[in-house]
Amino acid sequence: QAAINLLNGSLVAFPTETVYGLGADALNRNAISRIYAVKDRPKDHPLIVHISSISYLDRWSRDIPDYATKLAENLWPGPMTLILPRTDIAKDFITGGQDCVGLRVPDQQFALLLLSEFEKQGGMGVAAPSANRFGKVSPTSAQDVYEELNQYLGIEDLILDGGKCQVGLESTIIDCRLQRPKILRPGVITKTMIEDISGLEIISNGLNDQIKASGLLKSHYAPAAEVFLTDNPDKGDGFIALIDIETPKGAIRLASPKDSIQYAQVLYQALRLADRMQIKKIFVIPPLGDEIATAIQDRLIKAAKK
Ligand code: TXA
Ligand code: MG
Repeated sequence: QAAINLLNGSLVAFPTETVYGLGADALNRNAISRIYAVKDRPKDHPLIVHISSISYLDRWSRDIPDYATKLAENLWPGPMTLILPRTDIAKDFITGGQDCVGLRVPDQQFALLLLSEFEKQGGMGVAAPSANRFGKVSPTSAQDVYEELNQYLGIEDLILDGGKCQVGLESTIIDCRLQRPKILRPGVITKTMIEDISGLEIISNGLNDQIKASGLLKSHYAPAAEVFLTDNPDKGDGFIALIDIETPKGAIRLASPKDSIQYAQVLYQALRLADRMQIKKIFVIPPLGDEIATAIQDRLIKAAKK
């Protein structure tokens, strides 16, 4: 039913292993414009196209470098988005007018069923940004999507409930238009994994300012509460840190993950919990050390910007 609704131009929010996406038929200009309206997202921000299998990669992209094929073969389905030169079916309303398209095969049973059913009925791909209002925290449960977007959805639109997201943090975005891969948004697919699989060293100069990626804006992934990356909360403020860090006196513990993988899983739930509890300030001690910690720090730094 969800696949049919998509083909009829409706929106379907669906679970992925990273966060929930707000899906629409990637060929349907009107459906895509509804995504922008529901999210209140600036018009020129490109959308990731989700496909069920690597075998559909060349419907959407061309001149695919060998290293991108290797990454796709090894890491899809999985929390990785590849940016590649587009084919004609990737219109400006998907790519934000750029000559490249973002593609991903998600690793989630419902998502893959939805995508393959959609393709079986003639669909080419499902464009899906994270299912939150622009600049806000990505949803990691169907309940999150419902609370945030239901008032903007129509009766034909659906929210699929696949439980909590396994990863909890958005996909690693890799620019594959150059001779070597370049990370545009860090995630749980790490630099080391990408270098090992591709056999190439990642291009690691700062952020590419020619490419439009909303995750690259300064304030993003932000709850209503103010986020501070320090450890001196007052009474009644929220507190998030690894389990071995004690809660400062009077603070409200929102999460106590045991490592950075679990930190990624629960972070957005904890930020949303603070908003539900109407907590005004959240103090967060990010994890340190490994590469997943880097991705978490990236989101928290943006959440803390005003
Ligand atoms: O994990 C994820 O990637 C989730 C799930 C639903 O797949 N999706 C997601 O989408 O996080 P969104 O739109 O919230 O963030 C995708 C980022 C945006 O910053 C967008 O600008 C960038 O990917 N992006 C998409 N297509 C692009 C393109 N052609 N060129 C450059 N950046 C692109
Ligand atoms: Mg997003």
